[in-house]
Amino acid sequence: MKILLTGGAGYIGSHTAVALIEAGFEPVVLDNFANSHPVVLERLQRITGQTMALERGDVLDTHWVEDLLRRHRPVGVVHFAGDKAVGESVALPLKYFHNNIGGAVSLLRAMQTVHAEDPSTPPTLVFSSSATVYGDPASVPITEDFPRSHTNPYGHSKLVIEDMLSALCAANPAWRVGTLRYFNPVGAHPSGLIGEDPAGIPNNLMPYVTQVAVGQREHLNVYGNDYPTPDGTGVRDYIHVQDLAAGHVAALKTLLGGGESFTVNLGTGKGHSVLDVVHAFEKASGRPVPYQIAPRRPGDVAQCWADPALAQRLLGWQARHTLDEMCADAWRWQSGNPNGYRG
Ligand code: NAD
Ligand code: UFG
Repeated sequence: MKILLTGGAGYIGSHTAVALIEAGFEPVVLDNFANSHPVVLERLQRITGQTMALERGDVLDTHWVEDLLRRHRPVGVVHFAGDKAVGESVALPLKYFHNNIGGAVSLLRAMQTVHAEDPSTPPTLVFSSSATVYGDPASVPITEDFPRSHTNPYGHSKLVIEDMLSALCAANPAWRVGTLRYFNPVGAHPSGLIGEDPAGIPNNLMPYVTQVAVGQREHLNVYGNDYPTPDGTGVRDYIHVQDLAAGHVAALKTLLGGGESFTVNLGTGKGHSVLDVVHAFEKASGRPVPYQIAPRRPGDVAQCWADPALAQRLLGWQARHTLDEMCADAWRWQSGNPNGYRG
Protein backbone atom coordinates (compact mmCIF):
# COMPACT_ATOMS: atom_id res chain seq x y z
CA MET A 1 0.00 0.00 0.00
CA LYS A 2 1.53 3.26 -1.17
CA ILE A 3 1.72 6.36 1.04
CA LEU A 4 2.70 9.70 -0.49
CA LEU A 5 5.02 11.75 1.74
CA THR A 6 5.18 15.41 0.69
CA GLY A 7 8.43 16.77 2.13
CA GLY A 8 9.46 13.14 2.60
CA ALA A 9 13.19 13.90 2.24
CA GLY A 10 13.11 16.26 5.24
CA TYR A 11 13.94 15.57 8.86
CA ILE A 12 10.64 14.09 10.06
CA GLY A 13 9.58 12.76 6.64
CA SER A 14 12.73 10.67 6.19
CA HIS A 15 12.31 9.00 9.60
CA THR A 16 8.64 8.38 8.85
CA ALA A 17 9.58 6.77 5.52
CA VAL A 18 11.69 4.20 7.39
CA ALA A 19 8.92 3.50 9.91
CA LEU A 20 6.38 3.06 7.09
CA ILE A 21 8.59 0.53 5.29
CA GLU A 22 9.05 -1.37 8.55
CA ALA A 23 5.25 -1.40 8.93
CA GLY A 24 4.81 -2.87 5.42
CA PHE A 25 3.82 0.30 3.53
CA GLU A 26 5.42 1.61 0.34
CA PRO A 27 6.39 5.29 0.75
CA VAL A 28 6.60 7.60 -2.26
CA VAL A 29 8.68 10.71 -1.54
CA LEU A 30 7.63 14.05 -3.05
CA ASP A 31 10.18 16.81 -2.42
CA ASN A 32 11.67 19.84 -4.14
CA PHE A 33 14.77 19.70 -1.89
CA ALA A 34 14.29 23.32 -0.83
CA ASN A 35 15.43 22.27 2.66
CA SER A 36 16.85 18.79 2.14
CA HIS A 37 19.26 16.86 -0.02
CA PRO A 38 18.76 14.06 -2.57
CA VAL A 39 21.43 11.99 -0.79
CA VAL A 40 18.71 11.29 1.83
CA LEU A 41 17.21 8.79 -0.63
CA GLU A 42 20.50 6.85 -0.77
CA ARG A 43 20.68 6.83 3.02
CA LEU A 44 17.10 5.55 3.21
CA GLN A 45 18.02 2.75 0.85
CA ARG A 46 21.00 1.80 3.02
CA ILE A 47 18.79 1.65 6.12
CA THR A 48 15.84 -0.21 4.62
CA GLY A 49 17.42 -2.18 1.76
CA GLN A 50 14.67 -0.82 -0.49
CA THR A 51 14.62 1.78 -3.23
CA MET A 52 12.04 4.42 -2.59
CA ALA A 53 10.12 6.12 -5.39
CA LEU A 54 11.03 9.81 -5.65
CA GLU A 55 8.88 12.50 -7.26
CA ARG A 56 11.04 15.59 -7.47
CA GLY A 57 8.96 18.74 -7.73
CA ASP A 58 6.86 21.34 -5.99
CA VAL A 59 3.67 20.63 -4.07
CA LEU A 60 2.44 24.04 -5.29
CA ASP A 61 2.18 22.54 -8.79
CA THR A 62 -1.37 21.18 -8.49
CA HIS A 63 -1.57 19.52 -11.92
CA TRP A 64 1.72 17.72 -11.38
CA VAL A 65 0.49 16.50 -7.98
CA GLU A 66 -2.77 15.29 -9.57
CA ASP A 67 -0.75 13.42 -12.17
CA LEU A 68 1.42 11.64 -9.63
CA LEU A 69 -1.63 10.77 -7.48
CA ARG A 70 -3.15 9.12 -10.58
CA ARG A 71 0.06 7.24 -11.30
CA HIS A 72 0.79 6.01 -7.78
CA ARG A 73 -2.74 5.74 -6.34
CA PRO A 74 -1.57 6.09 -2.71
CA VAL A 75 -4.02 4.97 -0.03
CA GLY A 76 -2.90 7.90 2.12
CA VAL A 77 -0.87 11.12 2.06
CA VAL A 78 1.28 12.65 4.81
CA HIS A 79 1.79 16.37 4.29
CA PHE A 80 5.15 17.43 5.76
CA ALA A 81 6.22 19.85 3.00
CA GLY A 82 6.52 23.43 4.14
CA ASP A 83 8.80 26.03 5.66
CA LYS A 84 9.32 25.95 9.42
CA ALA A 85 11.68 28.66 10.67
CA VAL A 86 9.79 30.97 13.04
CA GLY A 87 12.25 33.89 12.74
CA GLU A 88 12.31 33.72 8.95
CA SER A 89 8.52 33.70 8.90
CA VAL A 90 8.48 37.05 10.73
CA ALA A 91 10.89 38.53 8.17
CA LEU A 92 9.31 36.86 5.12
CA PRO A 93 5.62 36.33 5.92
CA LEU A 94 4.50 35.93 2.31
CA LYS A 95 6.95 33.08 1.78
CA TYR A 96 5.21 31.22 4.62
CA PHE A 97 1.66 32.00 3.58
CA HIS A 98 2.48 31.04 -0.01
CA ASN A 99 4.39 27.82 0.59
CA ASN A 100 2.59 26.53 3.67
CA ILE A 101 -1.00 27.58 3.08
CA GLY A 102 -0.67 27.58 -0.73
CA GLY A 103 1.03 24.17 -0.63
CA ALA A 104 -1.76 22.68 1.47
CA VAL A 105 -4.47 24.16 -0.79
CA SER A 106 -2.69 22.79 -3.85
CA LEU A 107 -2.35 19.28 -2.36
CA LEU A 108 -5.94 19.18 -1.09
CA ARG A 109 -7.33 20.32 -4.45
CA ALA A 110 -5.29 17.69 -6.25
CA MET A 111 -6.52 15.01 -3.83
CA GLN A 112 -10.11 16.21 -4.27
CA THR A 113 -9.91 16.11 -8.07
CA VAL A 114 -8.43 12.62 -8.15
CA HIS A 115 -10.95 11.40 -5.56
CA ALA A 116 -13.82 12.69 -7.72
CA GLU A 117 -12.48 10.55 -10.61
CA ASP A 118 -12.38 7.43 -8.41
CA PRO A 119 -14.54 7.80 -5.29
CA SER A 120 -13.87 4.20 -4.16
CA THR A 121 -10.94 5.24 -1.92
CA PRO A 122 -11.61 7.91 0.73
CA PRO A 123 -9.15 10.81 0.59
CA THR A 124 -6.88 10.18 3.59
CA LEU A 125 -4.44 12.75 4.92
CA VAL A 126 -2.12 13.11 7.91
CA PHE A 127 -1.01 16.70 8.51
CA SER A 128 2.09 18.00 10.34
CA SER A 129 0.80 20.61 12.73
CA SER A 130 2.65 21.96 15.73
CA ALA A 131 2.34 22.81 19.40
CA THR A 132 2.93 26.36 18.19
CA VAL A 133 -0.87 26.56 17.64
CA TYR A 134 -1.27 26.75 21.45
CA GLY A 135 0.64 30.06 21.58
CA ASP A 136 1.48 30.83 25.22
CA PRO A 137 -0.54 28.16 27.05
CA ALA A 138 -2.34 29.18 30.25
CA SER A 139 -1.17 25.99 31.98
CA VAL A 140 0.61 22.67 31.37
CA PRO A 141 0.14 19.90 30.39
CA ILE A 142 -1.66 21.00 27.22
CA THR A 143 -4.74 19.14 26.01
CA GLU A 144 -6.10 19.39 22.48
CA ASP A 145 -9.06 21.53 23.57
CA PHE A 146 -6.83 24.40 24.75
CA PRO A 147 -7.48 27.69 22.92
CA ARG A 148 -5.34 28.23 19.84
CA SER A 149 -3.49 31.41 18.92
CA HIS A 150 -0.48 32.49 16.93
CA THR A 151 2.45 34.82 17.49
CA ASN A 152 4.19 34.60 14.10
CA PRO A 153 3.32 33.86 10.43
CA TYR A 154 4.63 30.27 10.69
CA GLY A 155 2.24 29.52 13.56
CA HIS A 156 -0.51 31.42 11.76
CA SER A 157 -0.04 29.22 8.68
CA LYS A 158 -0.48 26.03 10.76
CA LEU A 159 -3.61 27.44 12.35
CA VAL A 160 -5.14 28.37 8.99
CA ILE A 161 -4.38 24.91 7.57
CA GLU A 162 -5.98 23.23 10.59
CA ASP A 163 -9.12 25.35 10.04
CA MET A 164 -9.09 24.57 6.32
CA LEU A 165 -8.98 20.85 7.07
CA SER A 166 -11.90 21.15 9.50
CA ALA A 167 -13.95 23.00 6.89
CA LEU A 168 -13.11 20.40 4.25
CA CYS A 169 -14.14 17.50 6.50
CA ALA A 170 -17.36 19.30 7.45
CA ALA A 171 -18.19 19.86 3.77
CA ASN A 172 -17.26 16.36 2.65
CA PRO A 173 -17.47 13.55 5.20
CA ALA A 174 -15.57 11.20 2.86
CA TRP A 175 -12.34 12.89 3.92
CA ARG A 176 -10.29 11.25 6.69
CA VAL A 177 -7.81 13.64 8.25
CA GLY A 178 -5.42 13.14 11.14
CA THR A 179 -3.88 16.35 12.45
CA LEU A 180 -0.75 15.76 14.51
CA ARG A 181 0.48 18.55 16.76
CA TYR A 182 4.15 17.81 17.28
CA PHE A 183 5.92 19.10 20.35
CA ASN A 184 9.75 19.36 20.06
CA PRO A 185 11.14 16.67 17.73
CA VAL A 186 14.81 15.80 18.33
CA GLY A 187 17.19 12.87 17.89
CA ALA A 188 17.94 10.78 14.84
CA HIS A 189 17.70 7.26 13.46
CA PRO A 190 19.92 4.96 15.56
CA SER A 191 21.95 4.03 12.44
CA GLY A 192 23.36 7.59 12.42
CA LEU A 193 22.61 7.73 8.67
CA ILE A 194 19.74 10.22 8.74
CA GLY A 195 19.07 13.13 11.05
CA GLU A 196 18.36 16.85 11.28
CA ASP A 197 20.48 18.93 8.91
CA PRO A 198 19.66 22.60 9.46
CA ALA A 199 20.92 25.12 6.91
CA GLY A 200 23.06 27.88 8.46
CA ILE A 201 22.96 28.71 12.14
CA PRO A 202 20.47 26.43 13.90
CA ASN A 203 17.50 28.15 15.55
CA ASN A 204 16.54 25.18 17.67
CA LEU A 205 18.18 24.01 20.84
CA MET A 206 19.23 20.44 20.04
CA PRO A 207 21.01 21.07 16.71
CA TYR A 208 22.78 24.03 18.30
CA VAL A 209 23.92 21.91 21.25
CA THR A 210 25.19 19.16 18.93
CA GLN A 211 27.20 21.72 16.90
CA VAL A 212 28.76 23.09 20.11
CA ALA A 213 29.68 19.57 21.24
CA VAL A 214 31.30 18.76 17.88
CA GLY A 215 33.33 22.00 18.08
CA GLN A 216 31.65 23.92 15.25
CA ARG A 217 30.35 26.60 17.62
CA GLU A 218 32.01 28.04 20.69
CA HIS A 219 29.18 28.04 23.17
CA LEU A 220 25.42 27.82 23.55
CA ASN A 221 23.42 30.92 24.43
CA VAL A 222 20.82 29.92 26.99
CA TYR A 223 17.93 32.28 26.35
CA GLY A 224 16.90 33.31 29.84
CA ASN A 225 17.36 31.79 33.31
CA ASP A 226 14.67 33.80 35.03
CA TYR A 227 11.57 31.90 33.88
CA PRO A 228 9.19 30.53 36.53
CA THR A 229 10.57 27.00 36.02
CA PRO A 230 12.62 24.77 38.39
CA ASP A 231 16.03 26.01 37.13
CA GLY A 232 14.82 29.23 35.48
CA THR A 233 15.40 28.03 31.89
CA GLY A 234 12.66 27.23 29.35
CA VAL A 235 10.96 23.83 29.60
CA ARG A 236 9.82 21.84 26.53
CA ASP A 237 8.47 18.42 25.63
CA TYR A 238 11.31 16.89 23.58
CA ILE A 239 10.19 13.86 21.61
CA HIS A 240 12.42 11.39 19.78
CA VAL A 241 11.85 11.62 16.02
CA GLN A 242 11.54 7.81 15.96
CA ASP A 243 8.55 8.05 18.31
CA LEU A 244 7.10 10.79 16.12
CA ALA A 245 7.57 8.58 13.04
CA ALA A 246 5.73 5.75 14.82
CA GLY A 247 2.93 8.23 15.56
CA HIS A 248 2.43 8.77 11.81
CA VAL A 249 2.19 5.03 11.19
CA ALA A 250 -0.37 4.73 14.00
CA ALA A 251 -2.33 7.70 12.61
CA LEU A 252 -2.45 6.21 9.11
CA LYS A 253 -3.46 2.79 10.40
CA THR A 254 -6.28 4.36 12.41
CA LEU A 255 -7.60 6.34 9.44
CA LEU A 256 -7.21 3.47 6.97
CA GLY A 257 -8.99 1.20 9.43
CA GLY A 258 -12.06 3.42 9.09
CA GLY A 259 -11.41 5.74 12.05
CA GLU A 260 -12.91 9.21 12.21
CA SER A 261 -10.82 12.34 11.63
CA PHE A 262 -8.91 13.50 14.70
CA THR A 263 -6.47 16.06 16.09
CA VAL A 264 -3.91 14.85 18.64
CA ASN A 265 -0.80 16.00 20.46
CA LEU A 266 2.36 14.00 19.81
CA GLY A 267 4.56 14.54 22.86
CA THR A 268 5.95 12.57 25.76
CA GLY A 269 4.05 14.37 28.52
CA LYS A 270 7.35 15.27 30.22
CA GLY A 271 9.09 18.62 30.30
CA HIS A 272 12.86 19.15 30.28
CA SER A 273 14.69 22.43 30.79
CA VAL A 274 17.44 23.83 28.57
CA LEU A 275 20.00 22.90 31.24
CA ASP A 276 18.56 19.35 31.49
CA VAL A 277 19.24 19.01 27.75
CA VAL A 278 22.77 20.42 28.10
CA HIS A 279 23.63 17.99 30.90
CA ALA A 280 22.03 14.97 29.17
CA PHE A 281 23.95 15.82 26.00
CA GLU A 282 27.26 16.13 27.84
CA LYS A 283 26.63 12.70 29.34
CA ALA A 284 25.69 11.11 25.99
CA SER A 285 28.56 12.63 24.02
CA GLY A 286 31.31 12.74 26.65
CA ARG A 287 31.97 16.29 25.40
CA PRO A 288 31.56 19.55 27.28
CA VAL A 289 28.79 21.91 26.12
CA PRO A 290 29.92 25.37 27.27
CA TYR A 291 27.07 27.84 27.65
CA GLN A 292 26.37 31.45 28.58
CA ILE A 293 23.19 32.89 29.96
CA ALA A 294 21.73 35.33 27.42
CA PRO A 295 18.57 37.48 27.46
CA ARG A 296 15.22 35.81 26.85
CA ARG A 297 14.41 35.20 23.18
CA PRO A 298 11.41 37.31 22.11
CA GLY A 299 8.27 35.21 21.68
CA ASP A 300 9.48 32.26 23.81
CA VAL A 301 7.13 30.74 26.36
CA ALA A 302 8.31 29.55 29.79
CA GLN A 303 7.02 26.03 29.54
CA CYS A 304 5.20 23.84 27.08
CA TRP A 305 4.47 20.15 27.34
CA ALA A 306 1.76 17.84 26.11
CA ASP A 307 -0.91 15.74 27.62
CA PRO A 308 -0.53 12.81 25.20
CA ALA A 309 -3.48 10.77 26.59
CA LEU A 310 -5.74 11.34 23.56
CA ALA A 311 -3.14 9.98 21.12
CA GLN A 312 -2.72 6.95 23.33
CA ARG A 313 -6.48 6.36 23.45
CA LEU A 314 -7.26 6.99 19.76
CA LEU A 315 -4.11 5.67 18.12
CA GLY A 316 -2.74 3.23 20.70
CA TRP A 317 0.50 5.23 20.46
CA GLN A 318 2.84 6.47 23.12
CA ALA A 319 6.36 7.89 23.13
CA ARG A 320 8.97 5.47 24.47
CA HIS A 321 12.42 7.07 24.16
CA THR A 322 14.12 8.95 27.00
CA LEU A 323 16.00 12.26 26.80
CA ASP A 324 19.27 10.30 27.17
CA GLU A 325 18.39 8.23 24.08
CA MET A 326 17.42 11.38 22.13
CA CYS A 327 20.84 12.88 22.95
CA ALA A 328 22.77 9.68 22.18
CA ASP A 329 21.12 9.37 18.75
CA ALA A 330 21.52 13.09 17.97
CA TRP A 331 25.21 12.77 18.85
CA ARG A 332 25.73 9.65 16.69
CA TRP A 333 24.25 11.52 13.71
CA GLN A 334 26.18 14.75 14.32
CA SER A 335 29.55 13.14 15.05
CA GLY A 336 29.26 10.83 12.02
CA ASN A 337 28.06 13.64 9.72
CA PRO A 338 29.60 16.87 11.03
CA ASN A 339 28.54 18.69 7.84
CA GLY A 340 25.18 16.98 7.58
CA TYR A 341 24.32 15.60 4.15
CA ARG A 342 26.79 17.95 2.46
CA GLY A 343 29.59 15.49 3.25
P1 NAD B 1 12.15 19.86 6.92
O1 NAD B 1 12.41 21.23 6.42
O2 NAD B 1 13.31 19.02 7.28
O3 NAD B 1 11.24 19.07 5.88
C1 NAD B 1 10.33 19.70 5.02
C2 NAD B 1 10.57 19.17 3.62
O4 NAD B 1 9.63 19.76 2.73
C3 NAD B 1 11.97 19.50 3.07
O5 NAD B 1 12.56 18.33 2.57
C4 NAD B 1 11.70 20.52 1.96
O6 NAD B 1 12.64 20.41 0.91
C5 NAD B 1 10.31 20.12 1.52
N1 NAD B 1 9.52 21.20 0.90
C6 NAD B 1 9.31 22.45 1.39
N2 NAD B 1 8.50 23.14 0.57
C7 NAD B 1 8.18 22.29 -0.46
C8 NAD B 1 7.38 22.41 -1.61
N3 NAD B 1 6.73 23.55 -1.91
N4 NAD B 1 7.26 21.34 -2.45
C9 NAD B 1 7.91 20.18 -2.19
N5 NAD B 1 8.70 20.02 -1.09
C10 NAD B 1 8.83 21.06 -0.24
O7 NAD B 1 11.16 20.01 8.18
P2 NAD B 1 10.73 18.94 9.26
O8 NAD B 1 11.35 19.30 10.56
O9 NAD B 1 10.87 17.57 8.72
O10 NAD B 1 9.18 19.33 9.40
C11 NAD B 1 8.18 18.67 8.63
C12 NAD B 1 6.85 19.30 8.94
O11 NAD B 1 6.61 19.23 10.34
C13 NAD B 1 6.76 20.79 8.57
O12 NAD B 1 5.47 21.03 8.05
C14 NAD B 1 6.94 21.49 9.88
O13 NAD B 1 6.29 22.73 9.91
C15 NAD B 1 6.28 20.51 10.85
N6 NAD B 1 6.80 20.64 12.24
C16 NAD B 1 8.13 20.54 12.46
C17 NAD B 1 8.61 20.70 13.78
C18 NAD B 1 10.08 20.63 14.05
O14 NAD B 1 10.50 21.11 15.12
N7 NAD B 1 10.90 20.03 13.21
C19 NAD B 1 7.71 20.96 14.83
C20 NAD B 1 6.35 21.02 14.54
C21 NAD B 1 5.89 20.86 13.22
N1 UFG C 1 17.06 27.77 23.37
C1 UFG C 1 18.22 28.28 23.92
N2 UFG C 1 19.27 28.52 23.08
C2 UFG C 1 19.21 28.27 21.74
C3 UFG C 1 18.01 27.74 21.19
C4 UFG C 1 16.95 27.51 22.04
O1 UFG C 1 18.30 28.53 25.12
O2 UFG C 1 20.20 28.51 21.03
C5 UFG C 1 15.93 27.49 24.29
C6 UFG C 1 14.67 28.26 23.96
O3 UFG C 1 14.69 29.51 24.59
C7 UFG C 1 13.58 27.32 24.49
C8 UFG C 1 14.18 25.93 24.27
O4 UFG C 1 15.58 26.12 24.14
O5 UFG C 1 13.42 27.51 25.87
C9 UFG C 1 13.66 25.23 23.02
O6 UFG C 1 13.83 26.10 21.91
P1 UFG C 1 13.65 25.58 20.40
O7 UFG C 1 13.92 26.73 19.50
O8 UFG C 1 14.42 24.34 20.19
O9 UFG C 1 12.11 25.15 20.35
P2 UFG C 1 10.79 26.02 20.57
O10 UFG C 1 9.99 25.30 21.60
O11 UFG C 1 11.09 27.43 20.83
O12 UFG C 1 10.12 25.96 19.15
C10 UFG C 1 9.87 24.71 18.52
C11 UFG C 1 9.89 24.87 17.01
C12 UFG C 1 8.75 25.73 16.56
C13 UFG C 1 7.46 25.24 17.10
C14 UFG C 1 7.54 25.08 18.61
C15 UFG C 1 6.30 24.47 19.17
O13 UFG C 1 11.09 25.47 16.60
O14 UFG C 1 8.67 25.67 15.16
O15 UFG C 1 8.64 24.23 18.94
O16 UFG C 1 6.07 23.25 18.52
F1 UFG C 1 6.50 26.12 16.80
